[in-house]
Amino acid sequence: MPTTAITGSASGIGAAVSAAMRAAGHQVIGIDRSNAEVVADLSTPQGRDAAIAQVLELSGGVLDGLICCAGVGVTAPTCGLIPAVNYFGVSQLLDGLRGALAKGQQPAALVIGSVAATHSGADGQPMIDAMLAGNEDQAIALANALDQPHVAYAASKYAISHHARNLAMNWGKQGMRLNVVAPGAVETPLHQASLEDARFGQATRDFVAPLGRSGRPDELAAVVAFLQSPQASFVHGSVVFVDGGMDAMVRASRF
Ligand code: NAI
Repeated sequence: MPTTAITGSASGIGAAVSAAMRAAGHQVIGIDRSNAEVVADLSTPQGRDAAIAQVLELSGGVLDGLICCAGVGVTAPTCGLIPAVNYFGVSQLLDGLRGALAKGQQPAALVIGSVAATHSGADGQPMIDAMLAGNEDQAIALANALDQPHVAYAASKYAISHHARNLAMNWGKQGMRLNVVAPGAVETPLHQASLEDARFGQATRDFVAPLGRSGRPDELAAVVAFLQSPQASFVHGSVVFVDGGMDAMVRASRF
């Protein structure tokens, strides 16, 4: 039975992805702050190291899949938490579990990004350089100093998508696939918190996809399960938008 580690498995998209991967016959090692096989805090280097060590122990050092869903949104308690979880909580797991994936069968990894990564200005933030350079303290300090959660969120998703596509060059040479799924609005506790937030609620409600609704977690999970499957064996280094048409709406001429 193939083994897949999934961060953010306790809620929302990660929970739906875990169910879909189990249905596809995978043993799932869930990683989250609670209600998971591996309970760890991915916002700190120590928490990430502990998560990696436990996944290696539970998997016997061999993984066929890694899916990074854990993330925080614009209602995170501090702006600095956004790069810590959304960028370093992903990049360090990709690094730490790469060796186990290299021993897997048709190994594939996937990062949940966001359509927000394509928003105007998302790619021009100094904190992105800090993230891509691996300088966590500086990225956190820049995010906290700017104190604009929506900018930190878009920057974190831009940076991790860029990083994953960079990694895909080397990973591909080792036969390991790595893709990004960029959701639009999806009905989860994270999205609900944005809707209820005094600063971001109205903008979140006004930003409606051409399909006229938000997505369901299972609609994301179906695409993730496909991308992790052998049917997607030639899909690599891609950013796949699963967003009800939001990306087409915002930048029809870029693809
Ligand atoms: P959610 O809040 O339902 O699930 C996120 C999970 O990540 C939770 O189980 C949470 O405990 C876990 N997590 C957060 N911080 C953590 C930490 N420090 N250590 C370990 N686990 C941690 O949210 P949702 O919507 O399912 O989000 C999943 C991913 O999808 C996130 O990366 C989010 O940025 C992304 N996304 C969500 C969208 C939406 O509209 N729901 C839109 C675009 C992207």
